[in-house]
Amino acid sequence: MSASFPTTLVLLLVLGLGAVHRPLDNGLARTPPMGWNSWNHFHCDVSAQLIKETADALVASGMRDAGYQYVVIDDCWQVARDRAGRLVADSARFPGGIKPLADYVHAKGLKFGIYTDAGRRTCQGRPGTYGSEEIDARTFAEWGVDYVKEDWCNAEGLDAPTQYAKFRDALAKAGRPIVFSICEWGSNRPWEWGPRTGNLWRTTGDIGDRWASMIAILDLTTQYALAAGPGAWNDPDMLEVGNGGMTDDEYRAHFSLWAVMAAPLMAGNDVRAMPPATREILVNNEVVAVDQDTLGAPGMLVQEPALDLQVWSKPLADGSRAVVLLNRSGLQTVIAASWRAIGLTGPARVRDLWAHRDLGPFTGRFSATVPAHGVVMVSITPVRGG
Ligand code: GLA
Repeated sequence: MSASFPTTLVLLLVLGLGAVHRPLDNGLARTPPMGWNSWNHFHCDVSAQLIKETADALVASGMRDAGYQYVVIDDCWQVARDRAGRLVADSARFPGGIKPLADYVHAKGLKFGIYTDAGRRTCQGRPGTYGSEEIDARTFAEWGVDYVKEDWCNAEGLDAPTQYAKFRDALAKAGRPIVFSICEWGSNRPWEWGPRTGNLWRTTGDIGDRWASMIAILDLTTQYALAAGPGAWNDPDMLEVGNGGMTDDEYRAHFSLWAVMAAPLMAGNDVRAMPPATREILVNNEVVAVDQDTLGAPGMLVQEPALDLQVWSKPLADGSRAVVLLNRSGLQTVIAASWRAIGLTGPARVRDLWAHRDLGPFTGRFSATVPAHGVVMVSITPVRGG
């Protein structure tokens, strides 16, 4: 018996949606990737020495053990292609090329990442991967690359879903597990095709080391929260924590909000010379655990008690919620989260994830004084049978 027209239509729709939402199955990034990337602090000033010193510092500072894994060189490492069409690293800055550097990073118990561009040239005018997808994927695999960020400059006239799928397929063919980071700044609705193409996709233009930039990215990215899940993440861009443009309260807010969004946590500061306050933010294992929670459910804005005062909530695998009270205003104030807004009933235990302190059982609501441009971040765990 042949299916009726409406049945066929429904079937096609379901299959079609399934295809859109089915994440790339390369087995990687089951929780949001964590690591370090050179761009936000060093821009084009990258070298083998910087990468080695950074790898050393990630170990010495405890960041590796806190979960930061991928050490990623961003733009400007590449200068040309050789006769065989292979990318060539800047020999003054990377003597010996990339492979020994990847080996060094691996020997530290870390993973190694690199940057390219889906267009003809990178954003800084270096050779791009357009037309060289297969050879670049093979080269990266041979070098021992574990993570590739692919940018979108100089791609006029090209179709983003097509170009990124081409590189996804080339990476799969190269035979090495490589996290694929799509970086087209949210300009071609990547939340629609990103999940089947890459492990993460940028949702916006570049972050700036300013409160207003960080908050604007939060507001844009949260619109696409439902696209994310294990293996496929919205990427609101790399962290600015420690780069000097925000206060420590603002950086704590930045870090908390990225964790509640289940965003990749790619540090973007100079980890070789970190003040203790910066380090304490980056290695706060209770906040990192929220980001890395195995449920992989991104948090949402659930309550706006007044202008500039918000409550964000992220469901966790054990049935608790991670809750961020966000004060976007310039004045310290009290913010209350209601159980109704975060989907809880009955008594629940509240723990402050920045003070590392149990605050006790609460029923119905929890409120706290929140600094200007700052957060209070807690976990709220229902008391079973209470
Ligand atoms: C773009 C990307 C940035 C960075 C630079 C490098 O702007 O969005 O993250 O990679 O290019 O040139």
